[in-house]
Amino acid sequence: MLAWTVDHSSPSRLTLREVPEPAPGPHDAVVRVQAFAPNHGDVEGLAGLPDGFVPGWDAAGVVVAEAADGTGPRLGQTVVSLGSHGAWAELRLVTAESAGLAPEGSDPHAMSAVPVAGTSALRGLRRLGSVLGKRVLVLGGSSAVGLFAVQLAARSGAHVVATTRDPGARELLLRLGARDVVRAPDDLDGEVAGAIDLLGGSHLVRAFARLAPGGTLVALGHAAGEEERFGYGALFGDSNQHDRTLTTFFLGAETGIGPDMSWLATEIHEGRLDPVVSAVRPWRELTEAFAPGSRRGPGKTVLSVG
Ligand SMILES: NC(=O)c1ccc[n+]([C@@H]2O[C@H](COP(=O)([O-])OP(=O)(O)OC[C@H]3O[C@@H](n4cnc5c(N)ncnc54)[C@H](OP(=O)(O)O)[C@@H]3O)[C@@H](O)[C@H]2O)c1
Repeated sequence: MLAWTVDHSSPSRLTLREVPEPAPGPHDAVVRVQAFAPNHGDVEGLAGLPDGFVPGWDAAGVVVAEAADGTGPRLGQTVVSLGSHGAWAELRLVTAESAGLAPEGSDPHAMSAVPVAGTSALRGLRRLGSVLGKRVLVLGGSSAVGLFAVQLAARSGAHVVATTRDPGARELLLRLGARDVVRAPDDLDGEVAGAIDLLGGSHLVRAFARLAPGGTLVALGHAAGEEERFGYGALFGDSNQHDRTLTTFFLGAETGIGPDMSWLATEIHEGRLDPVVSAVRPWRELTEAFAPGSRRGPGKTVLSVG
């Protein structure tokens, strides 16, 4: 089969080449990949991977062989799949745990945005507990995870405030359910009950200062690439700021994600959730699509296989 493989002799660190088909274990179904949606972090992480490795976390495709032990998706079903490797290829192995079902007739390009971005947003938001009638801040609202977090928080009844540096993303964020869009936490009036942070660094520190008593900040992403420095007093409790929680998150440690991916896929297919696919390109154009400086505006770039 053809697959993008890590190749450190190439300027992009990737080569599309023939590799052996993956050998399924007893719990593995084989999926013919129709679309995959790289995360910027996947591309940035190539430097740390060995030559020959087939990268990629997110894919959507059709089951062409069921698992020998009878678990997992059935022949012919369309699935979305999450794993730490193997998505950027014609065939991928999935298990009952790593796959969600996509509705019949769903668009694989839209579905491929679900695994990392959609599931991280959903699981991160759950850490906040009920957000009904509460003010929630999404730091980095225009990131792939942020766009899902804004929609899911708004649907959960939150008053969502999103941050972005991109003035062009404002209308999109308002359309997706944000009530306010600001450039940075300092531009906020008042406090928030919870925050989903995709940026880290000074954004996280300043957002933590805006948490109401009992509030939680989920440190989900670190796109700003800055260290976090809390000044003396930043972690004091007083009558206005006490019982605040800062928690980290790692999607790879989450379990039982299949049903959540199936739910997200259905919500997208039935038009209640927007995966914000900004571009669909042939998979042979992966390296051009993710060349340094190629990102333009919010949304996922999806690669179409076949
Ligand atoms: N913990 C986990 O399991 C997990 C899972 C998924 C993702 N993540 C992490 O979550 C983060 C978001 O991922 P993603 O794929 O959604 O990102 P993405 O689509 O690549 O978007 C990142 C966004 O961050 C903003 N940004 C970048 N540098 C910034 C800076 N210096 N200051 C302020 N804003 C900045 C940009 O938005 P504007 O230009 O519009 O401001 C950009 O659109 C990444 O750090 C990723 O590694 C973690």
